Amino acid sequence: MMKCITCGEEYDLGEIIYTCSKCGSTLEVICRPDVSRDIFECRKSTMWKYKEFMPVNESKIVSLEEGGTPFCKCQKIGDKLGIDLYVKVEGSNPTGSFKDRGMSVGITKAVELGVDTVGCASTGNTSASLAAYAARAGKRCIVLLPSGKVALGKLAQAMFHGAEVISIKGNFDEALETVTSLALEGQLYLLNSINPFRLEGQKSIGFEVVDDLGWKSPDRIILPVGNAGNISAIWKGVSEFHEAGFIDDLPMMTGIQAEGAAPIANAVRKGKNSIEPVNNPETIATAIRIGAPVSAQKALRAIYDSNGIAETVTDDEILNAQKLLARTEGIGVEPASAASIAGLLKLVENGEVDKGEQVVCIVTGHLLKDPNTAINACTKPVEIDANVKALSKIINS
Ligand code: F0G
Repeated sequence: MMKCITCGEEYDLGEIIYTCSKCGSTLEVICRPDVSRDIFECRKSTMWKYKEFMPVNESKIVSLEEGGTPFCKCQKIGDKLGIDLYVKVEGSNPTGSFKDRGMSVGITKAVELGVDTVGCASTGNTSASLAAYAARAGKRCIVLLPSGKVALGKLAQAMFHGAEVISIKGNFDEALETVTSLALEGQLYLLNSINPFRLEGQKSIGFEVVDDLGWKSPDRIILPVGNAGNISAIWKGVSEFHEAGFIDDLPMMTGIQAEGAAPIANAVRKGKNSIEPVNNPETIATAIRIGAPVSAQKALRAIYDSNGIAETVTDDEILNAQKLLARTEGIGVEPASAASIAGLLKLVENGEVDKGEQVVCIVTGHLLKDPNTAINACTKPVEIDANVKALSKIINS
C-alpha cells in the first residue's frame, strides 16, 4: 500500500496517484517483507539483489542491471581530513546516474499499470534515464527540460534514446509544475520523484552502502540535494534495513545544496519543518538548480530524524572538489555530485564532522554528463608537429 506521509491516508498500489487526495502531501510506499538477510547471499550485484523490498511484480521487471555500483575507499582525501572516507560511484549506472535505480522500478510500474506514455521534467539526468528505460519498455516518452540549462551529455542521451524532448522557457520548477498538470489530466504517467515508486528504486543505494560495509551503517551519508528525492529514498532504505534488524545503527543524513539553490539548507539552518522556495535558483551544478523541491518534507524528516545536517557550497567550492576527486582519487563526477565532497570539506573544517568518522559520499552522476564544464576547467591541449623532437621539447619544457 501507499500512505500519505502527513495524514496517513492509505492508497492501493495499483492506483495512479502522486499526492494525497485528502491533504496534498507526498506519498510513500510501505514495504515490510518478512525475510532474513541471508537470502541476499550469492545473488548478482544489482539493485534487484534486494527484490523482496521492491513493490513491483517480479515477472515484469524492466532492468539494465542498474545498481551494484563501485564503493571506493578514498584513502588520500580521507587521510587528509582525518576520516574514513568512501565514495559510492553512481555514475557507473547504465545511463551514468543514480536515476536508473528509480527508473527501473518506475518503468516496471508503468508496465504493470499498462500506461502507454511516460514523462518527466528534468535538469537532465532524469530525462536521460527515463528515455533509455522507456525505450526498453516500448513506451512513448515526453521530457520537459529548462531551456539552455541542461548539460550536453544528458541532452544527447535523452534525444538519442528517442524521447520527445521539449525545451521550456523557464526553470526546472516551472517545467515540473507544467508536466505535473498534464499528468493529473491523465495524459501521461509522471516519473519524477514525486512518484513514490521512483524512491523505492533509489532506496537501494542505502541498501548497498550498508551491505558494502559488511552489514553496518556508516556514521554519516553525504549527498547533493536538488528535488530532494534521493536523500529521502536513501534514508527510507537504511531505515527499512534497520527495522528488519539487518543493521544496528543508522547514519546521519547530510544534504548539500548549492548556495544559489538552497531551500532545504536554509530551512535546516532555521530549524524549520517546511521550506521557503527559492524563486530564481542558480548554480553551475545545473542538476541541482532547483528552488522548490517536491520531496522537501521527506528530506527534512530524514535530516532531523537522523540527527543530520544540511550545508551550502559555492560554485567555486563545487568545481574545486570536482577536480580534487578526479585528480587525487581518479573518480570523475559531474559538478552536482562534487557538491557532496565540497560539503564534506566544509563540514570537517567547521568541526561538524568529527575526526575518525566513517563517511560515505554519494557521487550521483558521471563526469562525462557535463563535458563543457570539465573542458572549461582545464587548459587547452598544446598542439605540436608529429615528430619526437617537438614532443620531447614540449614535455621537457
Ligand atoms: N545529483 C545529480 C547528478 C542529479 O541529477 C540530481 C537530480 C541530484 C544530484 C539531486 O537529486 O533531486 O533527488 O535531490 N537531478 C534531477 C534530474 C532533478 O532531473 O535529473 P534529488
